[in-house]
Amino acid sequence: MKITLVAGARPNFMKIAPLMHALRGSSIQYRLVHTGQHYDEKMSDSFFRDLNIPLPDANLEVGSGSHAVQTAKIMIEFEKELLANPCDYVLVVGDVNSTLACSIVAKKMNIKVIHVEAGLRSGDWTMPEEVNRVVTDALTDIYFTTTPEAGYHLVREGVSASKIHLVGNVMIDSLVANMSKLQKPALYDSWGLSPRSFYLLTLHRPSNVDDPAQLQSLVALLAEQAGDKTIVFPIHPRTQKNLNLDQLPGNIRLVDPMRYLEFIYLVRDAFAILTDSGGIQEESTYLQVPCLTLRENTERPETITVGSNELVGTQTAHILAAFERLRSGNWKKGQIPLLWDGKAAERMVQLLSKLPA
Ligand code: UD1
Repeated sequence: MKITLVAGARPNFMKIAPLMHALRGSSIQYRLVHTGQHYDEKMSDSFFRDLNIPLPDANLEVGSGSHAVQTAKIMIEFEKELLANPCDYVLVVGDVNSTLACSIVAKKMNIKVIHVEAGLRSGDWTMPEEVNRVVTDALTDIYFTTTPEAGYHLVREGVSASKIHLVGNVMIDSLVANMSKLQKPALYDSWGLSPRSFYLLTLHRPSNVDDPAQLQSLVALLAEQAGDKTIVFPIHPRTQKNLNLDQLPGNIRLVDPMRYLEFIYLVRDAFAILTDSGGIQEESTYLQVPCLTLRENTERPETITVGSNELVGTQTAHILAAFERLRSGNWKKGQIPLLWDGKAAERMVQLLSKLPA
């Protein structure tokens, strides 16, 4: 039995790594294809090194582009890849354009699709990732889910329960495996940081960063609310293009996109996380660090119902109220969701080894 695994963009790499490690000890034949959706040292290569992911067997080198251009390029190149290297299953993770493009190609070639992190739904069709999730799940044959709720979404959409496997959160596998290997970034001492003395901010959703004026006023509001605490802001290339550095408040410290082992070091030590990312809501839940999610919806509701995350949104009044709760020590501690235990990849590989070729 042969599986082709697909990784394309930064949030895919911490999901693929534990699977690659678990597959190494199995009898399954596999190939790793990097689509090249993310391609530079900071968005891609450093993750392969930090997470000890073997070099991909193929890199489709598609690069950046509009959604249609990027998705189409991945489809063209991935079809060639599968023709040259036939397989029984294509395994995709997450909700990026590579996930969608490779699922469509595989399905049209009558290759079965396995989706890791299936069934997440934000209900927000303005998010490109929501389109990717729903379409990928419409094509998927085997669904690996992180939470019971994800399975309920799939059943409601007509998926047979026998195809859904609750395996837990594979991104948390990466966190668990690397907690003892975290590295203090150079900025930590040079900026005088210490545990709980700083906020960590990430913003890259088109709805928050594509309008420069809106981005600038959101950043100004967060800086004002942080008061005398530093906000460490590893800046995504998409956000960098729209931020006016001359108008940046003094307590905001920008840094290039960070390596995994250094970034998680900061998540662990932060007073609170300010983010519009999906994955960081989960990582802060696992580390039980307060997380203020600057979005109106989330596809990861258990980080709120169980974890330390709150959906704060982007309206001023809601942001002010959340900071007030945080400063007055009234933030919930949060628990770790079921099966976020570092063993999701092991469970998946056990299931994969029983699949027919
Ligand atoms: C993509 C994913 C998003 C994920 C995010 C994490 C989709 C639809 N979106 O969004 O779900 O949360 O990755 O980062 O798949 N760029 C670089 N170097 C790179 C890659 C990109 O500088 O290695 C720059 C390019 O100028 C590009 C911009 O970043 O135009 C945005 O990259 P893109 O892959 O289009 O989308 P993301 O916003 O990163």
